[in-house]
Amino acid sequence: MKANNIQIQHIVFLIILLPIIKPSHSSDPDPLQDFCIADLKSPPSINGYPCKPTVNVTSDDFFFDGLSKEGNTSNSPMKSFVTQGHVLAFPGLNTLGMSMNRVDIAVGGVTHPHTHPRATECGVVVKGRMLVGLITSGNNVVYSKNLSAGQVFVIPRGLVHFQMNVGRVNVLVFTAFNSHLPGTVQISKNLFASKPSGNNGVPDEVLMKAFQVNKTVVDEIKSNLS
Ligand code: GLV
Ligand code: MN
Repeated sequence: MKANNIQIQHIVFLIILLPIIKPSHSSDPDPLQDFCIADLKSPPSINGYPCKPTVNVTSDDFFFDGLSKEGNTSNSPMKSFVTQGHVLAFPGLNTLGMSMNRVDIAVGGVTHPHTHPRATECGVVVKGRMLVGLITSGNNVVYSKNLSAGQVFVIPRGLVHFQMNVGRVNVLVFTAFNSHLPGTVQISKNLFASKPSGNNGVPDEVLMKAFQVNKTVVDEIKSNLS
């Protein structure tokens, strides 16, 4: 009889736990209404922005032309430009668990090795020839491939990845994410151009040891990236 009570307690515990466990395996949570156009003037609450009142919603809230314009690749040493189409640019995406970018890479250009902490990325090459690569966690294996127009790639959530123009014309790629705000961590800037909060920045000692370089090199990278 005692054992039965313990089994029942275990089952009840598991039932209570299930809804808590499930979101940790998914991307953005499912919305609970048709739409929720972000009111970007209000601070974000958990998992999104407050909704703009429905009476103020117009057709324009469901469209975004920010990805129609070519990004300026000449201003960056990377010779690339990522135009982000996440919820902060396109408020209609709020709570819908998806977003898109436009990536322009000039001849000889690359994108910063980066990760998206909150989304898996899928991309389609529209123009040019591009090497795309991703690096696994733990054992640091690189998977990469040259792609041309019409070909598609996927970058699992959180993995470091990069792109490089390996052709003779500018590359145009559209990427899609299963989050309205995937987040981007550019590895080099994250480490070498981070802003101290109060007095606490990343100590040079940490960078010197992690990259096995001296302070002169750390200072040079910092000044190049700032
Ligand atoms: C490309 O990797 C992108 O994040 O849009
Ligand atoms: Mn990316």
